[in-house]
Amino acid sequence: MHQIVLIIDFGSQVTQLIARRVRELGVYSEIIPCTKATPESIGKMAPKGIILSGGPASVTENNAPKVSPKLFDMNIPILGICYGQQTMVQELGGKVDISDIREFGRAKLKLETSCRLFSDQWKIGSEQDVWMSHGDKVTELPKGFLVVGSSPAAPFAAIADENRMFYGVQFHPEVIHTPKGTEMISNFVTDICECDSNWTMSRFKEDAIKQIREEVGSEKVICGLSGGVDSSVTASLVFEAVGDQLTCVIVDTGTMRSGEVEEVVQLFRDNYNIPLVHRDASKLFLDKLSGVTDPEEKRKIIGYNFIEVFEKEAKTIGNAKYLAQGTLYPDVIESISFHGGPSASIKSHHNVGGLPEKMKLKLIEPLKELFKDEVRQLGRELDLPASFIERHPFPGPGLAIRIPGEITREKLDILRKADAIFINELKNRDLYQHIWQAFAVLLPVSTVGVMGDARTYECVCALRAVTSTDGMTADFYHFKMDDLADITNRIINEVEGINRVVYDTTSKPPGTIEWE
Ligand code: XMP
Repeated sequence: MHQIVLIIDFGSQVTQLIARRVRELGVYSEIIPCTKATPESIGKMAPKGIILSGGPASVTENNAPKVSPKLFDMNIPILGICYGQQTMVQELGGKVDISDIREFGRAKLKLETSCRLFSDQWKIGSEQDVWMSHGDKVTELPKGFLVVGSSPAAPFAAIADENRMFYGVQFHPEVIHTPKGTEMISNFVTDICECDSNWTMSRFKEDAIKQIREEVGSEKVICGLSGGVDSSVTASLVFEAVGDQLTCVIVDTGTMRSGEVEEVVQLFRDNYNIPLVHRDASKLFLDKLSGVTDPEEKRKIIGYNFIEVFEKEAKTIGNAKYLAQGTLYPDVIESISFHGGPSASIKSHHNVGGLPEKMKLKLIEPLKELFKDEVRQLGRELDLPASFIERHPFPGPGLAIRIPGEITREKLDILRKADAIFINELKNRDLYQHIWQAFAVLLPVSTVGVMGDARTYECVCALRAVTSTDGMTADFYHFKMDDLADITNRIINEVEGINRVVYDTTSKPPGTIEWE
């Protein structure tokens, strides 16, 4: 087994970034919720180091989440970040109080003493940009700890007990707004924890295949294919592991893009010879969606009926015990909180939750610790064609959430055509690979136009193109105006039903990537 740095999650929105930073150093890392971080489970994993994440709670509250005090007797180096620092301090006999001055955003860290956590890039006496997000602060250190750095609102912004290899920082080294944060994490992982930098995606693939084989044994597995990169990679990984014990199911909801279903069927059934069931359920979905305008209701109808159709297909396959899903880490973090209850729920993502519980199938989610770019890397390891791996993400509810208002077959046809032109133009102009996600939206608004001397009164199409690293934050793509003008012309000339095109220049936040 490979060396591992374990991240214990207290519910921070950026915990995943810690895992990402560690893995970028060539060291495997895994995240477990604080509620599952028992000394027994940690003992089994035998991590080379532990990082305690930030979190939204306050250690001054009675029921604040904690880890077992035994964790601090296991002779494992520990780095506490923000809430992680505070809970470690409290557990080891120090004090944490609610601060009069809260620090959110950029702050200056003054380094006062040297320690192994801060290498040459962090000079003693220098001031470094760091990113803070805290209300509470450490006010008294436990025995054995030294102050290493401070900020105006956090006198113990960086602390260390070098003998026990315990370190704490009030700021977030994992975010890009702490420019030297990666070096700090690297010092912890490679110098203090003494991890070798040898974890690669090909090792991840081998380990995942072994794990899937062990778990599944001789049982049957089913996997829903959507045409997206996540489900495609999951399916081919599981296929490598258990061969034709796997059956894939593609449910055509009627809200897929142009040519999508055919492409998936061709790739998996014809190229890879993976058993594949294709069910055209478009009539069912579109009938159920008829007259529905509320975005959440649309998502729920699609999610619910998807389960119904999928369940039926699973029965005809017979006795599948496992369901393989392409859930990614960002899907998990946006849908649950660390204690398993609902966190601020922005949208109901239909591929997460619901399905396994209702179907009583055991879940296999081999990608659930990975980020999108890592999934693409894994896809390359699995020799999936580039045209699949580089596909932009596509949401489970499909075009249904790109037609605000009521969905009709006519509107879907119009949107499919506009979307295909947009994507085709991006590919022809070599822009597709620079954009994280691009698509067209059909607005329920008609405007007046003039075409060939005649008045038109047709729909508005909005184009959306964003850059992002993980879909959690995004910026609109800065097109050259000529490109936008050409794309607009093609859509208006070629798609009957659209006479005006607009471009969405909203970032996320405050917008979301999808319109619904
Ligand atoms: P938002 O709109 O929340 O989207 O900014 C972030 C990313 O998630 C995708 N998305 C979904 N994916 N099921 C999915 O599988 C869903 O219900 C869903 N809703 C949004 C969206 O396309 C973007 O990539």
